[in-house]
Amino acid sequence: MSPATPYGVEDHRSGVQAVLGPLSPAAIFIVATIKPTGHQAVRELGEDLAGLLRTVGFRSLDPGLSCVLGFGSQFWDRLFPGLPKPAGLHPLQEIRGAHYAPSTPGDLLIHIRANRHDLCFELAGLIMDRLRDAVASADEVHGFRYFDARDLLGFVDGTENPTGDLAYESVLIGDEDPGYAGGSYVLVQKYVHDLATWNRLATEDQEKVIGRHKLSNVELDDDVKPSNAHNALTVIEEDGRELKILRDNMPFGNASRGEFGTYFIGYARTSGLLERLLANMFIGDPPGNYDRILDFSTALTGSLYFVPSGAFLEDPPEPVRSGRLIIGDLKGVPQK
Ligand code: HEM
Repeated sequence: MSPATPYGVEDHRSGVQAVLGPLSPAAIFIVATIKPTGHQAVRELGEDLAGLLRTVGFRSLDPGLSCVLGFGSQFWDRLFPGLPKPAGLHPLQEIRGAHYAPSTPGDLLIHIRANRHDLCFELAGLIMDRLRDAVASADEVHGFRYFDARDLLGFVDGTENPTGDLAYESVLIGDEDPGYAGGSYVLVQKYVHDLATWNRLATEDQEKVIGRHKLSNVELDDDVKPSNAHNALTVIEEDGRELKILRDNMPFGNASRGEFGTYFIGYARTSGLLERLLANMFIGDPPGNYDRILDFSTALTGSLYFVPSGAFLEDPPEPVRSGRLIIGDLKGVPQK
């Protein structure tokens, strides 16, 4: 069952804020910082996003196009002054553990998915046209699906994602934060891999890093899986139940520059779970028993966002400061 939202029933599998959309063959990730005057353009983009999706999606009759907008903690305060902050929204803390997880600037995350890259690119172009004067800086990554949903380390990536009701329960906020029910938290990190070193490992050793067999994708037996395997450190249980996140990682790269990367993206019902997973990986559990995937993968970026429901985005509350509307935010009212 999907959590009840004050905004009514929504389809989180397609269209605006489709966090539960299926893994797609193509994706574009844009992390932008927004100029001090740019928040109104972002609000208006949110309100018009469904129309932009129709504009691009209808041209191909392909149902797969979706877009998620996420807002960083400081930007939230500029975008919706006076509104309480979603309970788990705060700037990502960097981690200096066995490996380094940076916290890098990001006001706005744009996650576009489709079955074809041209659709992603067309929508990204229309969105950035709208934001041209609002954006101070942007990091854009074009992801592609690689063989059987493998990452560039050669392993199938995404197998243990929750599906069905479990996906709704794991990813969408419910009654615990009623004002933001139907929303979600999302963490992104851009990783580059040292493929030369990785490829010198025997396949059996690579399998011990990931915790699964490379060709068949079968999970290693517990008696052979090391405690520092990726899928040993990323399983967190509470009261005998595994706490799940939804990942839609995408390979990216630049062959002539020798760049081979994974764009990590994880959606969850609480930001705390995403941060616990990062701590397990970068500090280790117990500390020092860190994730071996990090010996071959470097996180270049990291940022955390709140994803409001589609209905909130389309019709956000008017911004209020000290009980007064902000003049610059009044739409269609002639200004003196
Ligand atoms: C270099 C970056 C990363 C790569 C290449 C990568 C790759 C993989 C692969 C191949 C699997 C096994 C198959 C599967 O269930 O998907 C996996 C599992 C998983 N990863 Fe990652 N991952 C990366 C970063 C992360 C990060 C940063 C997190 C969390 C913050 C994370 C969380 C998980 C979780 C929760 C699982 C499922 C574990 C299970 O239930 O068995 N991964 N990842």
